[in-house]
Amino acid sequence: MLLKVEVGVPYAVIPFRMLSMSDPDAGAAMAQEEVLSGGNMGGAVRVGVSVRRRSGAWSSTIQRLLRHLRRHGLEWVPEPLGRDRDGRDSVSYLAGEVPQYPLPDWIWSEGVLIDAARHLAQLHAAGADFDTTNASWQLPAHEPVEVICHNDFAPYNMVFVDGRLTGVIDWDTASPGPRVWDLAYLAYRLVPLTDPANGDGLDSQVDERARRLRLLCDAYRRYHGHEVDTAAVLPATVQRLYDLADFTQARADAGHEDLRSHVGLYRRDAAWIVAHTEALTGAAG
Ligand SMILES: Nc1ncnc2c1ncn2[C@@H]1O[C@H](COP(=O)(O)OP(=O)(O)O)[C@@H](O)[C@H]1O
Ligand SMILES: [Mg+2]
Repeated sequence: MLLKVEVGVPYAVIPFRMLSMSDPDAGAAMAQEEVLSGGNMGGAVRVGVSVRRRSGAWSSTIQRLLRHLRRHGLEWVPEPLGRDRDGRDSVSYLAGEVPQYPLPDWIWSEGVLIDAARHLAQLHAAGADFDTTNASWQLPAHEPVEVICHNDFAPYNMVFVDGRLTGVIDWDTASPGPRVWDLAYLAYRLVPLTDPANGDGLDSQVDERARRLRLLCDAYRRYHGHEVDTAAVLPATVQRLYDLADFTQARADAGHEDLRSHVGLYRRDAAWIVAHTEALTGAAG
């Protein structure tokens, strides 16, 4: 899960580590571990064709979810590779570019917006029949539960090849929730629905944002076959941002001081959406 990314050296190489025969990619006699930066939760390490990270109560549920999604034809989600000898979760490494802030200009193309909506719609359709009996999630479910939400479906968790969306990563914080929960956050990041003073967004007019919001919702509806009330996306985004502000505040209080400035940023973005709801939905309705 990413709250705010820092730009930095993509990989820091840490010492060699021998892989045991029980390792998911034991075929390689030796593999370097590369600390993957880019996220804000930290701890992801690349080992050859796999990515490892700390396991938790949610691990087997997430591995089962990824398997379920791939069985439903979503080859753009990482392949679950089980647990390595150090007890870490392992998934396949998806080759390509994972955009970080400041985002490259091409991320604002209509093709990316529509593709992202289509992938989200596919996820929600495929996850609808996931068996949640005895499931353990890192984040709580959000009501009303309709589908399995990724919960951080945003450009910095997407993999692109030649500007085309080819993968989505960072599944550990998935949990059940309503469709609009994911759609709202995607709209926030990709329409965008940020206060113009937030440099992470695109400096665009409200009318243009209304048009992109409608494009996003139309693409989602077209591929999902499910009606989305565009007007419902905005209050969901506001609620999502207040949730994120609270979550970030708790992390800052727990010692992640670098995140404290983001708390106000999310609240300011939420206030901007409230102040511009009519303009955003009027043209989008
Ligand atoms: N399966 C994967 N395939 C390719 N790159 C990955 C994968 N998982 C993580 N990464 C890389 O590692 C970085 C951090 O991983 P991520 O799962 O997004 O962590 P965080 O929870 O900290 O956001 C990503 O920005 C991406 O560059
Ligand atoms: Mg991430």
